[in-house]
Amino acid sequence: MLKNCGRKFLLSLVGATLTCLLVLMVDQQSREEGSRRQVEADPAARQEEEGCQGCPQLLLVHQHADPDVEPVATPSTEGTRASKPPVEEVTADDVFIAVKTTKKFHRSRMDLLMDTWISRSRAQTYIFTDGEDEELQRRTGNVISTNCSAAHSRQALSCKMAVEYDKFIESNKKWFCHVDDDNYVNVKTLLKLLSRYSHTSDIYIGKPSLDRPIQATERISESKMRPVNFWFATGGAGFCISRGLALKMSPWASGGHFMNTAEKIRLPDDCTIGYIIESVLGVKLIRSNLFHSHLENLHQVPQSEIHNQVTLSYGMFENKRNAILMKGAFSVEEDPSRLLCGRLLSWSEQSMTAYLYRAPPRVAEKCQLFEQSLKMDDHFGSEDAQETKN
Ligand SMILES: *[C@@H]1O[C@H](CO)[C@@H](O)[C@H](O)[C@H]1NC(C)=O
Repeated sequence: MLKNCGRKFLLSLVGATLTCLLVLMVDQQSREEGSRRQVEADPAARQEEEGCQGCPQLLLVHQHADPDVEPVATPSTEGTRASKPPVEEVTADDVFIAVKTTKKFHRSRMDLLMDTWISRSRAQTYIFTDGEDEELQRRTGNVISTNCSAAHSRQALSCKMAVEYDKFIESNKKWFCHVDDDNYVNVKTLLKLLSRYSHTSDIYIGKPSLDRPIQATERISESKMRPVNFWFATGGAGFCISRGLALKMSPWASGGHFMNTAEKIRLPDDCTIGYIIESVLGVKLIRSNLFHSHLENLHQVPQSEIHNQVTLSYGMFENKRNAILMKGAFSVEEDPSRLLCGRLLSWSEQSMTAYLYRAPPRVAEKCQLFEQSLKMDDHFGSEDAQETKN
């Protein structure tokens, strides 16, 4: 039945795609840099990646405004430009940033993060992995050996999320933020975003990969299942939870309960978080467009807004290399992520980066030269020019 439905859907999708292509060809010339559209993550790719056999059929639907949910936040309302006074000052020490990785990616992914944002936020960043690594331990203080399986299975992912949750509760920090090992975190904009909320309220903020709630079934007894619908923030883009809310999640999330909860709905770790918060506790996800995963078209993040984003990512999307569009010191072949010494920060922070940079000398040197060349470049907006003078 699902297959049949899928085929019909596919046919209509092909039709829609052709129409879209025509429109796009016409639209291409007049495309505005500032236009941004949230791109639907491909659930099929996601399921494959998550190795999630038990997932219900995720439906890709046409984008439409849903009057029942809070409007998707845009950088102008939710970013660093927001002129609202902070609800609560948040310093870097108030935030627990959990990075989920696996031993296989310590060199290929974690080194890049350590060369970039983690080098400036070592104390706040906790790396959750599944294998010993002296090199990683040497470069950053907080490496947590989860003892979870290195498989990319639903169970292994939930196992790590469970450890992340427990360690956050132990830490007594105000905010729990989870990211993946292919996420760049701009900690400054993250703090700015979180300061708009109180850590004692129920706050769950991130970006869904679907444009409608996920439809799942919850096991309520041996033989009884019940349909549930809820929004969840995709783990691949990163999300944050206030301490107040995290404490309420405890009966379903702490000390091994998280794994049981995940089994109950047979969904991956990030879906389980959404289930506990939305379905069980009745708290709504605050959707933010400042978080980005590799399952969206990262070319669509406007270059002028890149430094206002909370998270960025890179990788593959629809079988194509996916990264933000940014001039870098390195060629696309050398740095496919486009994250290495790019203009992700404001100018004053750029020079800080040069000081704190812990990258290999070859990289650091090239980045510094790149920074100098950027400062001489006059192809900037007025905002950047102003920051240079300060
Ligand atoms: C993993 O196992 C080691 C050795 O038994 C133990 O010391 C450590 O606390 C365990 N880690 C977690 C997160 O349970």
